[in-house]
Amino acid sequence: MRAVALDLRQRADPRLHVSLRQLTAALDSARGNGVRVGIGLGASLLAPSQRCPRQLKAMPVFAGDVLDPQYSHGDVLVQVAGSDTGEVREAAERVLQKASDWRMRWQIDGFRAENRADDGRGLARNPFGFTEGFGNPSSQREAAQRMLVRDDSSEPDWAVGGSYQVVRIIRFATELWDQDSLGEQERIIGRRRGGRWLDGTPPGEEPNFTADPHGKMTPLDAHVRMAAPDRRSPPPLVRRSYSYDRGNGDTGLIFSCFQRDLATGFAAVQKRLAGEALAQYVLTVGGGYFFVPPAGEAWLRELIR
Ligand code: HEM
Repeated sequence: MRAVALDLRQRADPRLHVSLRQLTAALDSARGNGVRVGIGLGASLLAPSQRCPRQLKAMPVFAGDVLDPQYSHGDVLVQVAGSDTGEVREAAERVLQKASDWRMRWQIDGFRAENRADDGRGLARNPFGFTEGFGNPSSQREAAQRMLVRDDSSEPDWAVGGSYQVVRIIRFATELWDQDSLGEQERIIGRRRGGRWLDGTPPGEEPNFTADPHGKMTPLDAHVRMAAPDRRSPPPLVRRSYSYDRGNGDTGLIFSCFQRDLATGFAAVQKRLAGEALAQYVLTVGGGYFFVPPAGEAWLRELIR
């Protein structure tokens, strides 16, 4: 996967529709050969305007973040994915060539080690060696329910069926992490490496945190416990992250999640995570908030009407 953030070369509103059409045509031409292409729109492109999704803004700085401006935000985020790295890179290059009204702001390559599907959930192993994805819903219906903007929301019409995407470039302190024993690491995450809960519950089922109110089994500051404390109402978001490795020990996660509401989705979880045990091993250095329009082309017509 390659994520490329682009900025408009010229900020002239009358030209916005021309530039957006040029970009979507470039994206269309990059599809095929097993390559999938997606787009997210940034607040710098749409705000301030009636057309801007209500909660879209530049990603704020959360506790502990050190955002590098060279790897943050963007008018749009183009995500090119596929199983063949060469095809993905070529497709991303083609987009850049064809979408001449846009210039690259930043880009990053990601991969999903041991990428697989299990009971409807996409799973992968992150650079810390842990399996990710179990907390996502296994049904498409539940995933759509968490991700897609509904028509009873107060969002602009064109945005209904779209989704807020949050991307966070999170650097890992791998050397520090590797000094901990596996047992310590599992208590920091709150699951075994392969996904089983610390109380022995299988990965796809619910742990019994109420039987462990003081965190003897699963510490109260474990990642999963702080991310999703109330097992009856899971955070309304769907995660799909990639690992990155930029050499010289600069490895980590391109965390990515989708939700219909930013405040109750990502922002609520991120705020809760402020005191987690994992915090001392990770540093968020970039990313942004984007809005992924609904499938099809109708949004483009409505947006630039
Ligand atoms: C810093 C890097 C991170 C690592 C290494 C990490 C790792 C993990 C792992 C291993 C799991 C358990 C398996 C799973 O459910 O997928 C998990 C669950 C989860 N993580 Fe993270 N995560 C990170 C960052 C984040 C961030 C930034 C958020 C959101 C703000 C987040 C939200 C969640 C949620 C909601 C769950 C599911 C909890 C549950 O349903 O039990 N994670 N994470």
